[in-house]
Amino acid sequence: MSLADVLGNHRVVVTVGSGGVGKTTTAAAMAVHAAMQGRKVLCLTIDPARRLANSLGLDEMTTSEQEVPRALFENNGLECEGSLSAMMLDTKRTFDDLVTKYASDDEARERILGNQIYQYVASSLAGTQEYMAMEKLHEVRKDTQWDLIVLDTPPTASAIDFLTAPERLIDAIDSPAMRWFLQVFEGAGKEAFGLVGRGATVLLKGIGRITGLAFLEQVAEFVSGINDLFGGFKERAEQVSNALRSPEVAFVLVTSPDPLAIGEAEFFSDKLAAAGMNREAIIVNQVHTLIEKPSIPVEEQIEAIRAVVPASIDAASIHPRLAASLEAERSWASADGAQVQRLGEKIGNATPIVEVPAFDEDVHDLAALARVATYLTNAA
Ligand SMILES: Nc1ncnc2c1ncn2[C@@H]1O[C@H](COP(=O)(O)OP(=O)(O)O)[C@@H](O)[C@H]1O
Ligand SMILES: [Mg+2]
Repeated sequence: MSLADVLGNHRVVVTVGSGGVGKTTTAAAMAVHAAMQGRKVLCLTIDPARRLANSLGLDEMTTSEQEVPRALFENNGLECEGSLSAMMLDTKRTFDDLVTKYASDDEARERILGNQIYQYVASSLAGTQEYMAMEKLHEVRKDTQWDLIVLDTPPTASAIDFLTAPERLIDAIDSPAMRWFLQVFEGAGKEAFGLVGRGATVLLKGIGRITGLAFLEQVAEFVSGINDLFGGFKERAEQVSNALRSPEVAFVLVTSPDPLAIGEAEFFSDKLAAAGMNREAIIVNQVHTLIEKPSIPVEEQIEAIRAVVPASIDAASIHPRLAASLEAERSWASADGAQVQRLGEKIGNATPIVEVPAFDEDVHDLAALARVATYLTNAA
């Protein structure tokens, strides 16, 4: 099984891994590849980065789907047999849609959408973004126009946060603190605000900004609003969480060859397996490639340097520095090679591990994404 097969055999592919390893880049590259292979692909990203939009020939990422113009493939010498659309996740709007869906009536919906604490939770609370990414995925999956949906996950501090997001969201709204609030507020009404004020403020001080009675009123409203939604939310989070375990969903772990990142990838791989999710491939991105040692004598090497540098530069005197940086590059490459090998031994050969070299430049256009894809699919 290769990564190309994984892409061919699944309807949803999710890239996961620690920040900065290349999740967004490889997600986009896989989407480009599949579109070129004739599939109708949606690339769902959290990354508002202009860089990604530009790579795909779009002015900016939007929260509704946009198709990458076919002409752009042609201009880059590529042939797109299918289609590629991209869409950016809007966390707040996804959450609002969820509230709209589960609120018992219009008034309840308006009360929660207008609540300041809700607005904080919906846009800034840790875990919300991860959860909403899954939520959106669950929704777009029902859209039969897509042959393949590639989800680029949020730049979470720890990749593990992503997996546990539904459970954490449920735990947060079903926590003893929440239930305590609910009891107090529902039981005693507004008169109790003064009494519980101190405790409430301490518990929710992370939410900040609003103080005093107004704050507590907001808390009360939020808590009762969430309670109204809770049954629906809980059921939904379970659905979303289960959907991620479906055989049509493939997780692709992305890592750099850095020992710390590899260590995290191994840990995450175990967690995925324990959670019953399908880790179908591993991408080791930004690998230093091993450059052969020059086989010609030093004198000839100096001649070769002289042929390419301006006449004002003394080829003989820069040779030692060039030789030293070649050595450094070679030792990076062999360290990276050892890491990839160790990873392979740990993971076993049932899971494809693909390497993408570190390019001299950022990946900034469709041709570069297609080039990344050639490494991902072993076509390079
Ligand atoms: N193989 C590569 N060679 C060179 N630059 C790369 C490579 N892969 C990714 N990059 C660059 O590294 C940066 C981080 O990549 P990105 O995909 O945004 O990471 P993540 O989404 O995991 O945070 C980007 O500027 C991207 O262009
Ligand atoms: Mg990213």
